[in-house]
Amino acid sequence: MRWLETGACWAYNDRTDGVAKEICEIGGNRITIFYFTATGNSLAVAKRIGGTLVSIPQVIDSDGLHCKDDAIGIVFPVYYFAIPRMVNKFLGKAKFEADYIFAIGTYGIMPGAAMLNLQKQARENGYRFDYANHLLMADNFLPISEAGKQIKSLPKKKIEERASKIASDINNRRHMQAKASPVSRAVTTVVSAMIPDGKNAQKYIINNHCNKCGICAKVCPSGNIAVTDKVCFADNCEACFACLHLCPQNALHHKSQKSDKRWRNPEVSLAEIIEANSRIA
Ligand SMILES: Cc1cc2nc3c(=O)[nH]c(=O)nc-3n(C[C@H](O)[C@H](O)[C@H](O)COP(=O)(O)O)c2cc1C
Ligand code: SF4
Ligand code: SF4
Repeated sequence: MRWLETGACWAYNDRTDGVAKEICEIGGNRITIFYFTATGNSLAVAKRIGGTLVSIPQVIDSDGLHCKDDAIGIVFPVYYFAIPRMVNKFLGKAKFEADYIFAIGTYGIMPGAAMLNLQKQARENGYRFDYANHLLMADNFLPISEAGKQIKSLPKKKIEERASKIASDINNRRHMQAKASPVSRAVTTVVSAMIPDGKNAQKYIINNHCNKCGICAKVCPSGNIAVTDKVCFADNCEACFACLHLCPQNALHHKSQKSDKRWRNPEVSLAEIIEANSRIA
């Protein structure tokens, strides 16, 4: 593999053709961020920090994931006080070479001990995050939060200010370790065990507004949806809710949802989420 001295470079071997591929950013700010997003919050944060952005669903099936840069980070949503399964899998496969490694978890209400546990897991894999922080954003968890109320609560969350602080911390290579109280750690053990299995989407309700446009299949980060004469869910669901939030017809519903209002981060377009998540060839 060839590494450029003038900027970030990451490489992977694509399983489909076995050919080593490289993506390089020449003369950039020498940060590479791997991100996972469903409704755009985490991508908005990654964009704010800047650098070369790589969507985890686009590389998760690659072999020999190896990234070298001055700084490398991951940005993802917290799910059930833990990190999404696909991000976990990615961290088990990826090899980072960097002077500075960071992790940002975006969350809507409470992150539990997600970042602390991530740090523990990193140590077990022989590295550590120099900076592990979380950022309170709009909550997209439909069984608890209602998008209308979330939008109204955004000013109180001071997202702009906090995201800028995180971006500045990272660009200045500041160090921070995740913390969690003993109570939070105990609750995390219980809540993180509740993450749904891959069959979660099979319980979603499809109403007759569906026009078979196929957007749900394109925003699905695990390629779990096929749209033919009907919408079919397989058993590899990440429980990310991208399909529920981003269906243009609002035709997909969760049986426990608080309302039928939906959320997409206004700093991220539907096209960007499709580009990040689509597993359709
Ligand atoms: C399945 C699921 C579980 C979630 N669990 C939590 C949680 O434990 N704590 C929390 O504060 N937010 C939780 N959320 C909210 C998301 O972490 C939050 O809205 C995040 O910023 C979404 O990021 P995204 O827009 O990049 O997908 C959950 C969301 C989903 C879909
Ligand atoms: S995005 Fe909505 S309307 Fe389009 S195929 Fe999926 S469920 Fe149907
Ligand atoms: S089926 Fe829906 S909830 Fe499940 S991974 Fe795909 S987009 Fe996310």
